[in-house]
Amino acid sequence: MKVLVIGEGGREHALVHALSQSPSVTEVHAIPGSDGMSREAICHALDWRHFDPLLSFCLKTEIDYVFIGPESPLVDGLADRLRDRGILVVGPSKESAQLEGSKIFAKKFMQESGVPTAHFQIVSSVDQTMMAAGEFTPPYVLKADGLAGGKGVFICDTLPELKSAARELFEEKILGEAGLSALLEQFTPGWELSFLILTNGREWSALPIAQDHKRLMEDDKGPNTGGMGTVAPLTISSALRTQIESQVLQPTVDLLAKKNMLYRGVLFIGLMIGKEGPSVLEFNCRFGDPETQTILPLVDGDLGLIFKNLAQGKVTSLGQKNLFASCVVLAAPGYPMKPEKNLPIEGEIHASSEFSYFLHAGTKKDSQDHWLTRGGRVLNAIGLGSSLKESLQNAYSQAGKVRWMGLQKRMDIGVHFKKSSAH
Ligand code: GLY
Repeated sequence: MKVLVIGEGGREHALVHALSQSPSVTEVHAIPGSDGMSREAICHALDWRHFDPLLSFCLKTEIDYVFIGPESPLVDGLADRLRDRGILVVGPSKESAQLEGSKIFAKKFMQESGVPTAHFQIVSSVDQTMMAAGEFTPPYVLKADGLAGGKGVFICDTLPELKSAARELFEEKILGEAGLSALLEQFTPGWELSFLILTNGREWSALPIAQDHKRLMEDDKGPNTGGMGTVAPLTISSALRTQIESQVLQPTVDLLAKKNMLYRGVLFIGLMIGKEGPSVLEFNCRFGDPETQTILPLVDGDLGLIFKNLAQGKVTSLGQKNLFASCVVLAAPGYPMKPEKNLPIEGEIHASSEFSYFLHAGTKKDSQDHWLTRGGRVLNAIGLGSSLKESLQNAYSQAGKVRWMGLQKRMDIGVHFKKSSAH
């Protein structure tokens, strides 16, 4: 089989890496891919936004199915356009991708399906926000409606902070159209987990549970990021699992089916587990980054085939290896606000073993084949092991093999993991 992956980050490199190991996949292609992926995939300098060249490429190369990695093409309807031309795709329709593309759409969907989620109000001006704030207790959570690349959530301890966040969204329009409406939401205390399922909009199969580390610095300090590291699998009690399945997963998929929403892809459910049980924070219509980097190595089965089935509307029941995976994100200085680019990467970027390797999230080669930083999250150091400890040791030892000026990484990935798993 020939598979095309759309995207260029660490999540897509994880997909390429997994697909290149699939016995049923003969060729992995990536658009645009990256220099770091080019050992495992044939990368093509095409832009997914230009549909005709993309379609010609798929037809000429006889691509068996396309896996769309990031949210933007899904929210823009790329999956529908490819399907309309008879190409198999892993990825939800434009309508279903609104679960991520519009926080307001998602919240209304949660309400309709009856899944537990925090109380909210829809706001679109500073005055409205401040009037609605009376219904909430601090900290106040203000979430931009549209896609904001991880920059759309403001957690404000005080009313003046809330006012200034609302001004940024509605008056300064720092997020453009994505921030013209927003949700004001009750803050939910607890611990967070990422529950991902494969679904065809009627049935679902759970992937191993991962835990992300969203803040930039140790002990969950500093600004929010796209994710500074993940560990998997998170073992939860069977009571909590049953609660998540019956209160969240089943009603969500049931409503997709009832509304006849076309969904052949990954649904990522961000959950907060509080005293009262699970509460849905968000839906994402794609694999998580960097969750994918630790989830895929744990799946027992031929991922090439599992995804092909999904593209055809069939959900494979998933097995899980007896393995742990850890991912430590190595970020550029200035990330997440203003990451510095084009810094030389030194060390053993090609170092790899059965139990540790790098996935490339934001690297590139210059004309003399020197590796440089290209994005905020630069490399993902992956460690596998028969225990969490071993996988973390492998990931951190891998992380130590490269360096650049101002490299940022958290040293406490997985440290709070056990505490969470005890619930
Ligand atoms: N790591 C969080 C996300 O992918 O949205």
